[in-house]
Amino acid sequence: MPIVRYLNYDVVRDRSWSFDDGLFTKADESDLEVPDYGSIEVGPNEYVLEAAEAAGHDWPFSCRAGACVNCAAIVFNGELQMEMQQILSQEEVEDKNVRLTCVSTPATDTVDIVYNAKHLDYLQDRVIQWFSFDQNITPECALSIMNHLIMHTVTLALAGVISALRLGSRLRLIFSDSLSLI
Ligand code: FES
Repeated sequence: MPIVRYLNYDVVRDRSWSFDDGLFTKADESDLEVPDYGSIEVGPNEYVLEAAEAAGHDWPFSCRAGACVNCAAIVFNGELQMEMQQILSQEEVEDKNVRLTCVSTPATDTVDIVYNAKHLDYLQDRVIQWFSFDQNITPECALSIMNHLIMHTVTLALAGVISALRLGSRLRLIFSDSLSLI
């Protein structure tokens, strides 16, 4: 099964490490522990986020359908193939190697990723945020909440449609696998 080695973006930011070729060597030589650094196995027909959760990790996500950047990761070595996505630009995918772990599967035997990359500045405008209502809400804040609610409703509706399509295609796969075993 493919192995995904992961590093938490919070560590990269807190230690002021740069995103360069030596990043994972630095991580390897440091005193980092799970959940900040380690590796997971990703099974067949399993997305990277699902594999991380199955291994007991609590990685960020929201829509689970390629429609936000909450689950974003940066690929450093190897490749992650995205099933679909509608939120990242071509430049972010091809030049910055951003991938959405909820819809990604390994395309190489080993992959190195920085997960929790939703904190990167250039992704902030597409992170789904949740508000706490136990605070003073100014008119500007209320407007912002309304905008976010509208955006979330549209995103979640889209995510629901995509999830239904994905479920259908998975069931078709399982069904055709079962038929071929008979
Ligand atoms: S949680 Fe993966 S794209 Fe929204």
